[in-house]
Amino acid sequence: MRLLLSLILLLPLSYDSLAAPTALRPQRKSRSFRVERVRRSDYVAHGPSALSKAHRKFGIAPTSFTGVDLSDFEPYEVAKSAVLTTKDSDDDQTGEVAAKSVQNNVEFISTVTIGGQNVPMDFDTGSADMWVLNSNMDPSYIQGHTVYHPDKSSTYKAVENSNFEISYGDSSWVKGTVCTDTVSIGGATITDQFIGLPSAVSQAFVSDTNSNGLVGLAFSSMNTFQPGPQKTFFDNIAPDLEEPVFTSLLRSGGIGEYEFGAIDQSKYTGTLVNVSVDPSNGYWQFDTKLFAVGSGPLQSVADTPTAIADTGTSLMLVSDQILNAYYGQVENARYSPSSGGYIYPCSADLPSLTVALGDKYQATIPGSMIKFAEVGTNTTTGGTVCYGGLQSSSGSSMMVFGDVFLKALFVVFDQRGPSLAFASPK
Ligand SMILES: *[C@@H]1O[C@H](CO)[C@@H](O)[C@H](O)[C@H]1NC(C)=O
Ligand SMILES: *[C@@H]1O[C@H](CO)[C@@H](O)[C@H](O)[C@H]1NC(C)=O
Repeated sequence: MRLLLSLILLLPLSYDSLAAPTALRPQRKSRSFRVERVRRSDYVAHGPSALSKAHRKFGIAPTSFTGVDLSDFEPYEVAKSAVLTTKDSDDDQTGEVAAKSVQNNVEFISTVTIGGQNVPMDFDTGSADMWVLNSNMDPSYIQGHTVYHPDKSSTYKAVENSNFEISYGDSSWVKGTVCTDTVSIGGATITDQFIGLPSAVSQAFVSDTNSNGLVGLAFSSMNTFQPGPQKTFFDNIAPDLEEPVFTSLLRSGGIGEYEFGAIDQSKYTGTLVNVSVDPSNGYWQFDTKLFAVGSGPLQSVADTPTAIADTGTSLMLVSDQILNAYYGQVENARYSPSSGGYIYPCSADLPSLTVALGDKYQATIPGSMIKFAEVGTNTTTGGTVCYGGLQSSSGSSMMVFGDVFLKALFVVFDQRGPSLAFASPK
């Protein structure tokens, strides 16, 4: 699919610096590698659960899950057993009805090799711990999962007197001990990477059998390992890379890609725009002070003019000001307490959403990319009801720009600065 996305200059003054093309870079190191992200349509994260997952992760209290729901809305039952299990790579072509109804509910999984063992894991730019489900855990936690077997790795080393515990704000958590082992991603290898070995995880991680752990790609300062933070895989590998970057290209149609160490010019069109990152909270956080809905005027973001780029969150979570302005332009859109978010008739034409990237640039997310999932039937009209990919950051001090936003862009996570660079994907 060709994306109708444009990066528009707000200030013509900045054009000169932008026009400098991404020229050949000095070849200090020659390493770069890429990892495919595979879309998994057998993962049933219906909209509300994607939202509560995001809220859990950032410790945001949901706006409201109580109250009378709409009588004209009958939610689909999300039965995991009804959803087919498909092969990793070509599943976007499946015609199964059950898979279709949830086909926009995606997470992206990449294979990581730990001590020679391949484990599908989630890459997460919104956290900084690497942890993996493992064979030391009680079987009730790991049923249906592909786990890491420390006892079968000749390079595994326990780390004495070390443990970790991540608590995502409410009931969700992971805790256990810490080890080191050799980790390879796309052929690039770090020996003695610190890895959390949970002894227990909360239910959400048990039920998502497609992912067996996380590879945290936020800043190492956020790492929760005790007695002190350890470096992420990216921080460990960066000195060996041609450039200290990784890029994400999430294809809404199927397989996306992470690439470490190089900015592949064949993956984007136009110019990369460079936005400065504030790493003080540990996130890939940047200013976003303006927004516009459709062809409407740019307005100031009142409460939280800052956002993080988070590959580990499916949705785009914005302040209530933006949310209300956006769904105010969608006929018959409304907040559904039982869904915990905005729903609208799937037949609606969604407007685009424009957000500022730093002080000089803006990106426009086409309305078609803001549709997230079909979640039910309108009992009055018989039409399908959709759950929006744009939902509330519920008073959080930052907005969370997850896959709904990142899917629209080619993104460079750059240690230099640090900074993020954005362009239209090819
Ligand atoms: C169902 O359709 C009616 C009539 O168009 C509309 O007023 C109502 O908002 C719709 N409900 C939902 C949940 O979309
Ligand atoms: C972005 O800016 C930083 C510093 O301001 C620079 O070091 C880095 O190379 C730039 N990144 C890209 C992709 O141009």
